[in-house]
Parts: sequence; C-alpha cells; structure tokens
Amino acid sequence: MSQTLFTNATLACVDGDSDYGLRDDFSLLVKNDQIAWLGPMAQRPNTADSEIFDCEHRLLTPGLIDCHTHLVYAGDRADEFEQRLEGASYADIAAAGGGIVSTVKATRAASEDELFEQALPRVRQLMSEGVTTLEIKSGYGLDCDNEIKMLRVAGQLEAELGLRVQKTFLGAHSLPPEFDGRSDDYIALVCEEMLPRAHAKGLVDAVDVFIESIAFSVAQGERVLACAQQLGLPVKAHVEQLSDQGGAVMAAAHGALSVDHLEYLKEDDVARLAQANSVAVLLPGAFYFLRERQLPPIAALRERRVPIALASDANPGSSPVHSLLLIMNMACTLFRLTPAEALRGVTLNAARALGLASEIGSLEIGKRADIVIWDVGRPSVLSYRVGMNPCLAVMQGGQWRERNAVVTA
Ligand code: NIG
Ligand code: FE
Repeated sequence: MSQTLFTNATLACVDGDSDYGLRDDFSLLVKNDQIAWLGPMAQRPNTADSEIFDCEHRLLTPGLIDCHTHLVYAGDRADEFEQRLEGASYADIAAAGGGIVSTVKATRAASEDELFEQALPRVRQLMSEGVTTLEIKSGYGLDCDNEIKMLRVAGQLEAELGLRVQKTFLGAHSLPPEFDGRSDDYIALVCEEMLPRAHAKGLVDAVDVFIESIAFSVAQGERVLACAQQLGLPVKAHVEQLSDQGGAVMAAAHGALSVDHLEYLKEDDVARLAQANSVAVLLPGAFYFLRERQLPPIAALRERRVPIALASDANPGSSPVHSLLLIMNMACTLFRLTPAEALRGVTLNAARALGLASEIGSLEIGKRADIVIWDVGRPSVLSYRVGMNPCLAVMQGGQWRERNAVVTA
C-alpha cells in the first residue's frame, strides 16, 4: 500500500457551498488513490510507513478540471484571426465557408497519429498548470469515421499521458459542406449512424450540440439530445453564445449536465437551469477572443444558485487558450467572478459539469487523490497573477505526476 502524508499545508478544500473551504496548518493523508484523512496538524495520524511531504505552508487544491475543450484538431486559424482584426466577424467568416468548416477540412486530412502529435503540446500545457481531468469534444470530423478518429485520439491522450479524459460526442457542431441545404438529413445521420456507432465502440461519455444561427436549430438540437438519452448518455449543449435561441431552456428540460457559453441567456430563463440542476459553464476565453460585449447573466445565476463552472474552450477558432489560470483571471476581470468562485469553477463545479462530482473536484475524504501543490500561500493568488505558473507538484490518483525539486521533502 502506498501512503503519503502532507504536512504543514494550507488547504483550499472547495467543500461546502461557497468560498474556498480554507484550512490552515492542516495535514492530509493519501492512501492508494484516495484521500483517506484530513485534519489539523496536531491531530495527524502517526504513520511511520508513509512518505512525508512537508508543504511548508504552501497551498494545496484539488486537481484542476477543464470541463469544455475542443483540443483535438489539425492546423490553426491564425489567418482568420488576421481577418477579424481587419473587421470580419466570427459569423461572417463561418458564412463564407471558413470557421469550423476550415478546421474540419484539415482534421479530416490528418491521420490519427498526426492529430495526436498536434494535440500533445496543448494537453501538456494544460497539465503543467495542474489539470488532472480534461474533457475533449469531437466535432471537427462531421462524418462517422472522422468523429470516431477524433474520439480515439482523445482516448489515446488519456492512455499515454495519465490524466483523466472525458470524451464528448459533438457530431452536431456544424453542417459539413457535403450536406449544404440539407441540415435535417445531417441530423438524421448524426442520430441514426454517427452517435450509435461511436457509442458502440465505447468512445462516448456524453453528447453535446451547438445550437446557434450558424449551426443547428433548437428542434434539431433536441433531436440529438433525445437520441443520446435513448442510449443512456448524459447531455450538454453550446447555447446562447452569439444570440438567444432558447437552447439553454430546451437542454435543461432534457436534464443537461451543463449548458455552456450563455452570454445571451435571458435572466428569466435562469430559473429553468436551477430547476434542472444544470451547471452554467462560462467560457471567458471565447468572450475575450471574439471581443464579445454581452455578459452572461452572472447576478441571476448567483441569485438562483446555479453552479458556475469555467473552462478553456480550447479550440482554434474562438478560444486558442490553453491556460486555466488565465481563464480564472479572465473570469474575475471580465465577468467579475470572485477568485473563490473562479477556483470552484475549475474544480468542484467543473466536476459537476462532467457528472463526476462524487469522485473528484474537492479535497474530501473518499475522493480521488488528485491534488496540486502551488508555490503560493493564498488561493486568491491563482486568479490574480497573469503569466506565472506556480504549480510545483501534481498528484494524480495518489501517484506523483510532476514534482519540482524545490519542495521535495
Ligand atoms: O465553443 N461554439 C462552437 N464551438 C466552438 C468554436 C469552435 C471553432 O470555432 O472552431 C466554441 O466556441
Ligand atoms: Fe466550445
């Protein structure tokens, strides 16, 4: 049996309903892959057979969770970034055949190995800042074989890098060019062939749809979510990103784990999310990168106690962002979240958005020992600094993943 006793730690447990769940001068015991005990230093167990890790009053948090990414894809869209700086909008570029569809062409042309190689540095960058669980969506293949190829690469990243990866099927991300003018036919293909085949291969943990004027209607999205539910799969949706289509209310009515983006969500619709227990996943990277002006209804989400999660939305078009620490800062500066809300957004509430809150997301007895040791004394510093990475060591499922010599006890 392997045991590690962390001593002299400041814990941000992210337990309870709000705030950091801060404990000073604490000790935490990991046995095998779980948190077995935590309490004040004076009460720490006498464990002669444990490895002792003296934190010297540094901060420990749960492993960070990036609950919304599109980071398996080929190529980049730096040329569209230039076009947007010259005045074209994200929607203009999509309407002219660029946008998501240009990444679809590059992704279809890439082999599984090429996709893996291109995704690797993106995942490593997120991991260097303490990410222990990552969600990856398909959605740049848009046919059976290419969606399956993307999901297989997501699985391979999990197998080779040792972090946890949740695979989300997003076949209804955009209309592939060969279905131009026949979007209902494409939705039928998604429901009748693409999703069932990907699911039969064990490649789908959840199903997502993009409901927007440049993507699919609420009725089409509903069809996909209903098919997912028939297969017993949890659902989520990209909604109200560029306009208010009513997708969030529909997805919540289907018991969505999360509804994501939400800049154009009406305050009156927030109650429906609360009733459904759906998590609001906010994506400040896309808000920033697209220079969006419309803010999500944060005050109403808080008032109705809808859990708020944050994610990178790492993708080549609207959020080429690969840092959850930067996302925490953006959530505070752009959306006026508190640093405590930001930490909860990338830990416990992100776990809820993935349906994994009983296993990960907080420092509590019985949860998996996914733990980050930061070279800071207080949790607000994580949201405050930009461009610094104070991650010193990461334990994933009770095993050391990265460990900086500075804190080796
Ligand atoms: O979450 N909104 C739709 N999907 C992505 C953008 C994908 C892309 O532009 O390639 C998003 O922002
Ligand atoms: Fe997205």
